[in-house]
This record gives sequence, structure tokens and C-alpha cells, in this order.
Amino acid sequence: MIHPSYDINADGHLTFAGADTVLLAKKYGTPLYLIDENEIVRRCRIYRSAMKKYFSEESAVYYASKALSIKEIYRIIEKEDVNADVVSLGELCTAISAGYTPSRLCLHGNNKTDEEISAALRYGVGSFVVECTDELYAISSIASEMGKVARVLLRITPNIDCHTLEAISTGKLDSKFGVPIETGQAEDFVKLALSLPSLDLIGYHCHCGSQVFEIEPYLDQLDIMMRFASDMKKKLGYSPKYLNIGGGFGVRYTDEDSVEVNIESNIKLLSEKLSLLCAELSIERPHILMEPGRSIVASAGATIYTVGSVKKIGDFRTYVTVDGGMTDNPRYALYKSRYEAIIANKASLEKDTVCSVAGRCCESGDLIGEDMPLQSAERGDILAITVTGAYNYSMASNYNRVPRPALVVIKDGSDRVAVKRETIEYMLENDV
Ligand SMILES: Cc1ncc(COP(=O)(O)O)c(C=O)c1O
Repeated sequence: MIHPSYDINADGHLTFAGADTVLLAKKYGTPLYLIDENEIVRRCRIYRSAMKKYFSEESAVYYASKALSIKEIYRIIEKEDVNADVVSLGELCTAISAGYTPSRLCLHGNNKTDEEISAALRYGVGSFVVECTDELYAISSIASEMGKVARVLLRITPNIDCHTLEAISTGKLDSKFGVPIETGQAEDFVKLALSLPSLDLIGYHCHCGSQVFEIEPYLDQLDIMMRFASDMKKKLGYSPKYLNIGGGFGVRYTDEDSVEVNIESNIKLLSEKLSLLCAELSIERPHILMEPGRSIVASAGATIYTVGSVKKIGDFRTYVTVDGGMTDNPRYALYKSRYEAIIANKASLEKDTVCSVAGRCCESGDLIGEDMPLQSAERGDILAITVTGAYNYSMASNYNRVPRPALVVIKDGSDRVAVKRETIEYMLENDV
């Protein structure tokens, strides 16, 4: 097993965060999301301490809430001095209702509605990442009407190809996100931000993509952004106080993924590059902001299911069908993302079969994975999928009117419900 939260106990059961997953399945039912609080804390601290050490005291981590937005996460990360980015009124209100400090939030998202902008200003969010000129006009005019000043960072497209999946690559010229440098539009964007009322331009933002294992795209992106900043300083006399370099450090889902990203040494390399660039370009060193999502929560999550059936098709495929699937984890259907599967009640046995783990929805593409090594499975077994903390619960749906699973947080071996299992009554509430 590739992450520290997992072990096998004396009963041969898979443990997660010190808790027996087979007993958790009995206690709470399945499917069930599990989150290891200590692992989240550990990863927040790696980011926080490395950024303070190599960037500056004023550097900050903005946890990308889209990876997992539930009240309990905001309570955990705020204690670790981690800020958060939110991309919708839903994420914003989840944070606020958890008691999270509004000024630590940044409102993101590539199509903010007037309602979201007004709510963010009313609650007093700390900043906005602005995606385009239409949005800049809207924020300026709503802030003016409300007698407020919006602190904004401009999202700039660095035109970087970070060799990740097309669907999670965001920094290329042809992207729905941000404003490109090459076409001259980014310069106009800065001019506009400096000229409009009720805006305080505090810096720039960029994000090249997700599930990136190499440091080179980040170094290239820093280079491009600092050269752009220097150009703007010369032309417009403006230097950014902050530079947000996005999220996206890769996470190991299976043994096939590259080696674990060393977050601290990446931050050190980025800091060294930043020092060289500032010296070469004679520009003030901005405070660096980062927006990790999956690299904070992915490895801190697991999902457990009950096996419903095992179907062999001749000698060429075995389907192990579980009581969840694309409704609680759509990532294989979306991206062919690979996961590791384990029969939790047979965890000490050898994985002697290769199976496709299928969900219960009426879609052939409803798979958790294909060709997954697995212990021989039978109806009633508990099947665990590891590294599901990011983009699982947050991407879950009610397709086929399947209720979303409960989410249980485990800390030091004791478990608590952080999100209740949905009921049929809950799903029917909005039907008239
Ligand atoms: C702008 C932005 N920042 C941060 C992230 C977080 O990326 P990851 O979860 O891969 O760290 C994303 C992911 O989509 C993003 O679009």
C-alpha cells in the first residue's frame, strides 16, 4: 500500500487511520467514505512550514476546496493556518457555516454570478481571482454599489503544457480559464484593473494543471509570470504584492504513478528560481500563494463498498460489482483514473485475480477500474478503494437516484460522522 494511513491488523483486516475498515463497514454501512484527519494535518503542515521557510511569512496556502468541500474540512484546515479557495456560493457558504474566517477565503471560479460576487463582498472574503474582463467590470461595479473595495488577483494564462490529462490541463493558450499573455490581452487586463474603481489589484494568479509530477512546468510558469510582472512594471509601474502559482502537485494513486512528489524540495527549488528571477529582472519579490487540493486530501481518503456479485466472462474478464460506483467516484468514467482495490476482510491474502470493479449504475462505463489486481472476491466481501479523498465526494451525484454515502472522519483511531448518509426522503425533498 502506497500511503501511510493503511495497515493490516491481526484479523487480516485492512485498517485505515488505525481503524478496522471491516468494523467500520458494519457500524456505518456501505458505501462509506473515510477520511484520516491526521494525514490532512500532516500534509497541511508540510506545505505551511515549507512555504514559510522558503517563501515568506506572508506566503499562504489556499486549500482548493473543490477537492473536498465539507464543513469538517474547513474546521481542520483553519486550525492549521491554511486559507481556502472557493469556486461557488455553495463552497463559500459551506466554509462560512463551519465558522471559517471569511477574510481567509478567496473566491475563484470561471463564471462568478452577480449573486456570488455580492455575497462574497457581503461576507468579507479576502480576495477574488478574476478570470476575464467582463468579470472585472462586474466586480468593480458591484463593489462600488456596495461601497466596498475588492482585493483582486488577475488570472493569467502562462501557455504551459504540463503534460497532464487534457481535461485537467488549464494553463494552455486555448483554455476557458484566464487571460493570455501572448495576445496582449493580459496587459490590457492589468491596465483595466488599475483603472476601474473599487478594486485593489494585489497580484497575479496562474495554474498550469493538475496531477503534475515534474517541477519543470512550475519553474517555467514562474519564469513566464515574473517576466510578465517585470514587463508590466516597466510599462505600467505596477508590481504584484502576491503571486499565486496554483495547485496541482501530483498524487500517487497506484504503484504505476511516478514517485511521491517531494513538496518541500519543490518549494525550495521554486524559491531559488524566484530569487534568481527577482535579481535578474530587478523586481520586488512577491509573496507566493499556492492552491493545493488533491495533494492535501487525496491520500487521506478511502472508500469502502460491499461486493454484490462476481461475474466471470469466460477466461477473459471478471467483474466484481459493488454497491457504489460512478455516483460516488466518477473519476474512472471521466478520466480513466487508476486506483488500487483491496478486499478489506482478506487484506493479508495474496491478490491472485485481476478484475474490473463495476458500479451499480445503468452505464457500461460505470467502473471504478479495469484490470485491477484483487484478492478472490465473493458476495458480501468489503472492498476498499484507496486514495479517494479528493474529487470523489465533491464530484458525487444522485444518478439512478442513488443516495450519496456518509463520510466518516477518523482521528487517532476514533471515528465520527462528518457527513450523514443521504436518504431517499432527502432526495425527494425538492420534487414537487
Ligand atoms: C485554479 C485551480 N487551482 C487549484 C486547483 C487544485 O488542483 P489540485 O487538486 O490538483 O491540487 C485546481 C484544480 O482544478 C484549479 O483549477
